[in-house]
Amino acid sequence: MSRWFNIAGPCKADKHYMLSATARLPDLEQFIEQESYFVVHAPRQTGKTTAMLALAKQLTESGRYTAVMVSAEVGSAFNHDVGVAEVAMLETWRNTIAVRLPKDLQPPAWFYSGPGQRIRASLQVWAQASSRPLVIFIDEIDSLQDETLISVLRQLRDGYPNRPHNFPLSVGLIGLRDVRDYKVASGGSDRLNTASPFNIKVSSLTLRNFNASEVAELYQQHTEDTGQVFTQQAKATAFDLTQGQPWLVNALAKEVVEKMVKDRSITITHEHILNAKEILIARQNTHLDSLAERLREPRIKAIIEPMLAGLELGDVPNDDIQFVIDLGLCKMDPQGGLTIANPIYREVLP
Ligand SMILES: Nc1ncnc2c1ncn2[C@@H]1O[C@H](COP(=O)(O)OP(=O)(O)OP(=O)(O)O)[C@@H](O)[C@H]1O
Ligand SMILES: [Mg+2]
Repeated sequence: MSRWFNIAGPCKADKHYMLSATARLPDLEQFIEQESYFVVHAPRQTGKTTAMLALAKQLTESGRYTAVMVSAEVGSAFNHDVGVAEVAMLETWRNTIAVRLPKDLQPPAWFYSGPGQRIRASLQVWAQASSRPLVIFIDEIDSLQDETLISVLRQLRDGYPNRPHNFPLSVGLIGLRDVRDYKVASGGSDRLNTASPFNIKVSSLTLRNFNASEVAELYQQHTEDTGQVFTQQAKATAFDLTQGQPWLVNALAKEVVEKMVKDRSITITHEHILNAKEILIARQNTHLDSLAERLREPRIKAIIEPMLAGLELGDVPNDDIQFVIDLGLCKMDPQGGLTIANPIYREVLP
């Protein structure tokens, strides 16, 4: 069976047309060698999970580390009950690790001490038992809030000085926002005693969108597999409309090749791409829908509404501007002005 354009979760190389999963990541191996804790943040549907899964696999296969990606998401149902959140996360992590790592690299039984210590204690027993230094990526970190977020960050900070023999050598937190915003997510400035709840991190990194030649390269994979050609103008139009937003790039092509032009002898033109755009917008897919949903938040509304109306932005806090950029709703244009991230979002947001 031929491969397809994926719009549902992380990409798999054997099934999906895809670009190198880790090419857009900065060089994280250096951070890992230097025993760093770091943050990788990028908007929804840019390829964070795809990239970090691939990196973890690569690191483990190098034989030097035991590296795995786990998710904090199940903990978010218990943002006010730290002990329950910890157990939910640790149990899920165990299942994840069971399928992602070979048997000889599995952790020992987790260590269920009192609430607020279970993550630290469990990572400690694993680091002590592990034959290789541990590298842990925690996905969806900013699904956590309030007490549970504070507790997880504090436990990581608490164990940090004991790495690498008694705690993971390197930890990456993966999410939408930089840690600066974790303070907000944890219920405001009074809740935390330090400026940053994760002040041990050395760096915040982000994942960029595809550039025009990467979009062309992805579409070319379909041509190579099926013989169906995209004109240069079709590829350029897809880039213009999406500005390389990875999910949108896949969604446009998928619409065209799976619904509009199934006859592989027909060349795909920019008109096909433009039609696909109209269909995507009309359909209000979840990705687009969840962006529109964001507009309900007052601090986002205060920025987007005047922009759509073509008005000057009033006095908005810099933090809020950074927030709409982190979410991928807006970007800075080369002249330094704030604009909507791409023409498709521009049509969806109103
Ligand atoms: N390497 C890649 N090559 C091609 N397309 C990709 C690649 N990585 C991601 N994508 C596109 O982005 C979509 C989302 O990928 P992924 O789930 O890895 O992103 P994410 O940033 O973790 O998303 P979320 O914020 O929702 O968790 C994929 O369904 C696919 O359309
Ligand atoms: Mg993800």
